[in-house]
Amino acid sequence: MSKHHHDGGRKRGLWSSRFGFIMASAGSAIGLGNIWKFPYITGMHGGGAFVLFYILCIFLVGIPIMLGEMVIGRHTRRNPVGAFRSLRGGIWTVTGWLVVAAGFVILSYYCVVAGWTLDYLLLSLRGAFSGQNAAQVPGLFSKLLASDARQLFWHAVFMSSVVAIVLRGVSKGLEKANKIMMPLLFLILLFLAVYGVLSPGGAPALHFLFSPDWSKLTPLVLLEALGQALFSLSLGMGAMLTYGSYADDGTNLPAAACAISFMDTCVAILAGLAIFPIVFTYGMQAAGGPGLVFKTLPVVFSRMPAGTLFAALFFLLLVFAALTSALSLLEVVVAYYCDEKKWDRRRAALLIGFVIFLLGVPSALSNGILKDIVFIGERNFLDSVDFLASTVMLPLGGLLIAVYTGWALTTRVAKSEIEKGEVRFHLYPVWHFLIKYITPVLVALVFLNKIGVF
Ligand code: PHE
Repeated sequence: MSKHHHDGGRKRGLWSSRFGFIMASAGSAIGLGNIWKFPYITGMHGGGAFVLFYILCIFLVGIPIMLGEMVIGRHTRRNPVGAFRSLRGGIWTVTGWLVVAAGFVILSYYCVVAGWTLDYLLLSLRGAFSGQNAAQVPGLFSKLLASDARQLFWHAVFMSSVVAIVLRGVSKGLEKANKIMMPLLFLILLFLAVYGVLSPGGAPALHFLFSPDWSKLTPLVLLEALGQALFSLSLGMGAMLTYGSYADDGTNLPAAACAISFMDTCVAILAGLAIFPIVFTYGMQAAGGPGLVFKTLPVVFSRMPAGTLFAALFFLLLVFAALTSALSLLEVVVAYYCDEKKWDRRRAALLIGFVIFLLGVPSALSNGILKDIVFIGERNFLDSVDFLASTVMLPLGGLLIAVYTGWALTTRVAKSEIEKGEVRFHLYPVWHFLIKYITPVLVALVFLNKIGVF
């Protein structure tokens, strides 16, 4: 039985359980950002000092904005555009438009990168890494990037899976998929992290990740930590707003925001504990970026005993992480068309999925036939849309949502929304102070920095 929320004759989905809501939101937060980006930027930027600072950002910026998004979503029971329109309207509706647009842009290239993980899952299941020498394995990645057909194929496969889940609805589609994939993701990751820490490279990896080097903490690194916290928690995108709009009234939103942020941070740290020990055990460089996951790790898998099994588990983990995040990106846009344009969910998911697939085509071709065409700066198409989304649209969305929550949402609305049912939120004044004075200033700094003002 799926639950619905009735609102003036409109039927909207609801999570069937609080556990389902938490798993789905954690699924959105935990994504490619946790598994490859967090580990390598931590290593580059001062290990333990960076981790401490990152955790501070989660408290000062992450949790306050996440709670703000959930409060707005549940209070209005709308998609981002409808939510702002029904609260204040006017200029604030632009915030809704911005985040729905970001959904289109981010999902288009996220699916392409997720497609690479599917390709690598298949490669590892076929044992493609074993028996190759260290020089051949990284070549597999260049070969994939050069093949337009392979990338388009996986882009289509991944997008079809996202659409197939989203069109089934909130509780039967999103919730069910997350309730299956997220526990499996935790299990695989825990296994890989324990194996990593116990392997010979465990000690140097712990040193690399956790020994604090305060000298590397420059102001720009601090901003990087803040930006990563926003991206990793899926904030500034309306994803938590939309997921919050399906939460039932008794759900303790502050507790949910804390639990989701806690899980997201643990997964990021565990990913580092899974990856770096084996990288060090086999004497490889802890190089960053996509190269770490698609070039360095496969070399390690080619030498490890039972490497085929480890490779398959690792890429399955990445596929789950990417898929559960992509679901929330499509859901934001689908919710908009269902609420505002009264489209039927099936039609919305199929049509929007197809349009976003088309938008992703140039990204899929950007390392192949389009590789000589540059857009923003020296970037190819895929890097340009990534730049546009994660450095401009997300921080701007996060800033507007923080300012709105702190300054335009009245205490009467916010407090009574949070305290619906049996919930008592004693830290309300702390949250309100943060979201009013601290969070927007910090996010504004990230935004100005990212667009190159300083
Ligand atoms: N949080 C996801 C990650 O870490 C990315 C994401 C951002 C997903 C915004 C949805 C919305 O990869």
